[in-house]
Amino acid sequence: MSLATRDVALRELMDDPACDPDRLRATLQRFDTINRLVSRWGPVYRSRIGPFLAALERPARVLDLGCGGGDVLTHLAQRAERDGLSIEWVGIDPDPRAIEVAHARTPGTRTTFLCTDSTALLAAGESFDLVLSNHVLHHLTPDELGPFADESRRLSHGIVVHGDIERGRLAYVLYAVGITPFAPGTFLRTDGLRSIRRSYLPAELAEALGSPWQVEKPARFRVLAIAPGTASGAADV
Ligand SMILES: C[S@@+](CC[C@H](N)C(=O)[O-])C[C@H]1O[C@@H](n2cnc3c(N)ncnc32)[C@H](O)[C@@H]1O
Repeated sequence: MSLATRDVALRELMDDPACDPDRLRATLQRFDTINRLVSRWGPVYRSRIGPFLAALERPARVLDLGCGGGDVLTHLAQRAERDGLSIEWVGIDPDPRAIEVAHARTPGTRTTFLCTDSTALLAAGESFDLVLSNHVLHHLTPDELGPFADESRRLSHGIVVHGDIERGRLAYVLYAVGITPFAPGTFLRTDGLRSIRRSYLPAELAEALGSPWQVEKPARFRVLAIAPGTASGAADV
């Protein structure tokens, strides 16, 4: 098995509408633990999100596209609340099974989870100061990536930040070993390893997204794609 190229033919078990609902629920619930260990939004919050939102000096709106079980949004909301920032948080996912798990969280009163997609939000005239996603880019087909990235920019009048895995052999081996205690009863082993095989190298993601996206490595095994929003009222960032 080679990790030299993206394996876009692989499909994740959780993407099957007919997959086992109990295992799917357990997977979405356990994303909380996995994201805390691997997704590294803490450094991104400290270096980018927190300073950006604080500099607005007014209440702001943040959107998480493909929020899954809602844990990334919830933890960012907790950090921002500790920093005294006034933010409305919205998490959306087209999969109702994910939103059901997100609703079972006990988020703050300013956090909403909706089963919808970016096209519907645009049609409703919604816009946000910051649009983000975690582990969605690698899910998308080459035909889906461009429209997803474009719609994420059209929903933002500030910045867009998409975080994902950096494909690599060491990440694959470490995940294969490290996931063992968390995997029983879930799709975490199979889907996590497939996710790594579907993920981008930074240069591949930069080429796939094109200008003006900038792709960074915010932490080991991570990529971060950043672009200015294009919604009306968008500011230079
Ligand atoms: C691996 S899960 C990540 C969930 C969550 N962001 C996290 O980090 O735990 C990928 C999510 O992307 C969602 N998704 C797939 N295609 C999408 C699209 N075009 N727009 C928004 N979300 C999408 C799926 O329903 C799924 O919940």
